[in-house]
Amino acid sequence: MTILLEQVAMDEGRKVGEGGDGSSANLVLDAGFVVVPEPKVPVSSSGFVAPEINAFGHAFRSYDAESERQKGVENFYRLNHIHQTYDFVKKMREEYSKLDKMEMSIWECCELLNEVVDESDPDLDEPQIEHLLQTAEAVRKDYPDEDWLHLTALIHDLGKVLSLPAFGGLPQWAVVGDTHPLGCAFDESIVHHKYFIDNPDYHNPAYNTKNGVYEEACGLNNVMVSWGHDDYMYLVAKKNGTMLPSAGLFIIRYHSFYPLHRCGAYAHLMDDEDKANLKWLHIFNKYDLYSKSKVRIDIEKVKPYYLSLIQKYFPEKLKW
Ligand SMILES: [Fe+2]
Ligand SMILES: [Fe+2]
Repeated sequence: MTILLEQVAMDEGRKVGEGGDGSSANLVLDAGFVVVPEPKVPVSSSGFVAPEINAFGHAFRSYDAESERQKGVENFYRLNHIHQTYDFVKKMREEYSKLDKMEMSIWECCELLNEVVDESDPDLDEPQIEHLLQTAEAVRKDYPDEDWLHLTALIHDLGKVLSLPAFGGLPQWAVVGDTHPLGCAFDESIVHHKYFIDNPDYHNPAYNTKNGVYEEACGLNNVMVSWGHDDYMYLVAKKNGTMLPSAGLFIIRYHSFYPLHRCGAYAHLMDDEDKANLKWLHIFNKYDLYSKSKVRIDIEKVKPYYLSLIQKYFPEKLKW
């Protein structure tokens, strides 16, 4: 079963493939147009090269490109910005902290996630398990000793099961997309900011100042961030007693918080632990974003390694 609450048209005219010369750095479009990466393309110490275009032939996270899919993404953010309020997030956190929806292992959830499609993402048309393993394997190649980071990469999107009926069947605007704080002013760097004008919090004087209901350096743990798969998976991991380090939990919880980790917005709310963890999130995010390309993973081959990590850091069965 595929979950798509609002069907988004895809740009099928342009597909991306690797060059036949063995050079994975050069991407060739169907028409034979070769895209040579600019020198600024992120290259890791061990040679991980981030491709410049996504599965649809557009630049990654290109929100203003003229395509039908982009219009679907914009409409998604319109709904997200109107409906995510301080009270809504508070209610969602209370509801999902009960962990009364299901019992299953981490790997079972990876398989379950294949039934979900993320329509907020302009870059992704692969089954989710491919994205999870692509991200984890890319991280593993460059940081072989940080096994917690491999596992963090594998599980970072598992919260997307929120859109499945057994988990409440939440609409996409409450599951995926970039996240941002509630209870203080909406920063200009938030994608499609103009739609906040229809959010009741935007007009509430308690919530629309720079600090709003928070104090400087209060720590992100005390901040309400818009509800979605990030916060849900954080709650699940934390409440099930994971042994993942604080940086792993931070990555899971804030990997969609683009205004912070890409634009530096809301930095005044971070405490010292947040600042230390943000460095790991910056590392992780490069892989989350750029691994969404046509790299096929042999799932059965890598599965035993990830099962061993799951056993190390999680109980066998988790409450969801
Ligand atoms: Fe995500
Ligand atoms: Fe992701």
